[in-house]
Amino acid sequence: MDTTDLVLAILHHLLVFSLAGIIAAEFVLVRNDMTASTVRRLARIDRHYGMVAMLVIVVGAARVTWGLKGWEFYVYNWVFWAKMAAFLIVGLLSIKPTMRFLAWSRQAGADAGWRAPEAELASVRSALSAEAAVFLAIPVFAAAMARGYGF
Ligand code: HEM
Repeated sequence: MDTTDLVLAILHHLLVFSLAGIIAAEFVLVRNDMTASTVRRLARIDRHYGMVAMLVIVVGAARVTWGLKGWEFYVYNWVFWAKMAAFLIVGLLSIKPTMRFLAWSRQAGADAGWRAPEAELASVRSALSAEAAVFLAIPVFAAAMARGYGF
């Protein structure tokens, strides 16, 4: 039994579930009747998204390095790289929503009657939908790679 592997696996699961929760929360909060306080909350939640994503990278890299199977198991496995590519795509898709949340939060702070423009709302919602769809592929790749598929 290996305590390091167990602790890293537990942390990894807790972090990726948190990330899924944050994406879901953002999706629910982005609505056309958003108030200034909702927008501030979105910007706050999104900051946590960035922090949790960083921790996922750190803990994920630690699992590759110190996990039971050894780094060679992953670096020569294309399913692992497909999982990394999907994670990168999710990260890239999250840039536009992040920029919008910051801009909205600034605008709503300066104007009490602020409402998000329809076109910006639609583009943020479609970026979040795409993010969620690609995110779903990650555990699929994870389960396959953990069972030796991809060599
Ligand atoms: C840089 C990012 C990431 C790295 C380096 C990474 C790395 C790893 C590693 C090394 C394992 C162990 C697999 C094994 O037991 O052989 C694993 C498992 C897993 N990862 Fe990640 N991961 C990352 C991001 C994510 C994300 C964003 C998710 C989101 C769902 C995720 C979901 C999972 C799941 C569900 C498992 C367990 C698979 C199983 O045992 O069936 N990972 N990951």
